[in-house]
Amino acid sequence: MTAADKYTIETITHIHTWVPDKLFSIRTTRPAQYRFIAGQFARLGVAKCTPEGESIAWRAYSIVSAPHDEHLEFFSIVVPNGEFTSELARMQAGDQLYLEKMNYGFLTTDRFECGKDLWLLSSGTGLAPFISILYDLKTWEDYERVILVHSVRDPGELAYRELIEDMKHHEYFGEFAATRLRYVPVVTRTQTPGALGKRITELIDNGELERFTGTPFDHARSRVMICGNPDMVDDLRKQFVGRGFSVSKRGQPGHLAVENYW
Ligand SMILES: Cc1cc2nc3c(=O)[nH]c(=O)nc-3n(C[C@H](O)[C@H](O)[C@H](O)COP(=O)(O)OP(=O)(O)OC[C@H]3O[C@@H](n4cnc5c(N)ncnc54)[C@H](O)[C@@H]3O)c2cc1C
Ligand SMILES: NC(=O)c1ccc[n+]([C@@H]2O[C@H](COP(=O)([O-])OP(=O)(O)OC[C@H]3O[C@@H](n4cnc5c(N)ncnc54)[C@H](OP(=O)(O)O)[C@@H]3O)[C@@H](O)[C@H]2O)c1
Repeated sequence: MTAADKYTIETITHIHTWVPDKLFSIRTTRPAQYRFIAGQFARLGVAKCTPEGESIAWRAYSIVSAPHDEHLEFFSIVVPNGEFTSELARMQAGDQLYLEKMNYGFLTTDRFECGKDLWLLSSGTGLAPFISILYDLKTWEDYERVILVHSVRDPGELAYRELIEDMKHHEYFGEFAATRLRYVPVVTRTQTPGALGKRITELIDNGELERFTGTPFDHARSRVMICGNPDMVDDLRKQFVGRGFSVSKRGQPGHLAVENYW
């Protein structure tokens, strides 16, 4: 197998900037044969010119778009001097990206059995896989409540907020989202109306998140997905394990599925 058998070359069709020089989303073309489950990630490559010649830098990226969409969408941070994101941030519509043909990851709802309340706990760009999961009809068939918590430092970083708040009007699942979806924005460094102001870990410790959503954590009902900053993921996992929740393993469904971004 040659390297070229492992990837396709896709074209950027649209870029949306959320916070200049910090956060943006890109849409690309999607090969017809590219399949994934909501919550999985792709591996993207950008061409880089080095003194030794051209090379490709590869990074994992959660897929924001739905499995049924004709395009692919990704939500990205810009890391100052980051090998990959410095290149990606310079790109424009019409530019090309490499996409590995394989997709990856276990942050998918098929890790769980029998839950009623799906908790999606994210920080920063860790929101990305949860948008795809919200677009998946199966989520609405399987769960009576879906609570999406997005924690960011500053209010401008609440990307996708309007889209999430508008899901109640979606033509296929709007009826479900209207009654089942609870969106909880969390802004930790600036007091922000309409958002909770403490870290998710603290909101869980002091019971505020359960009170605010009217949904208690419960072994029989709660299934919890956690994605983003590795310190947050680690701290939350410990909190839940301390309360008797277990991490899902292959062939052994539990209550928790987690993904670290770095
Ligand atoms: C499974 C998986 C899925 C991922 N999905 C996404 C995604 O959907 N969107 C996305 O932006 N990144 C995602 N990442 C991170 C991504 O792979 C790269 O790390 C990121 O694009 C930065 O690349 P870089 O080469 O510029 O910097 P790197 O050299 O890769 O990272 C340098 C430093 O930047 C910080 N950093 C890296 N990624 C992030 C981030 N996402 N948010 C905040 N700080 C970060 C960390 O401190 C890291 O040590 C994911 C990572 C994994 C493992
Ligand atoms: N956002 C910026 O303006 C900025 C500026 C310079 C550099 N960076 C770099 O960008 C990377 C992170 O970017 P980011 O904006 O996604 O920020 P982040 O640091 O991952 O923070 C995102 C959210 O997660 C929360 N969080 C972080 N650690 C946590 C933990 N252990 N438990 C619970 N919640 C936790 C943060 O709360 P807190 O606010 O309480 O931390 C914040 O609400 C870092 O490498 C950082 O050095 C970002």
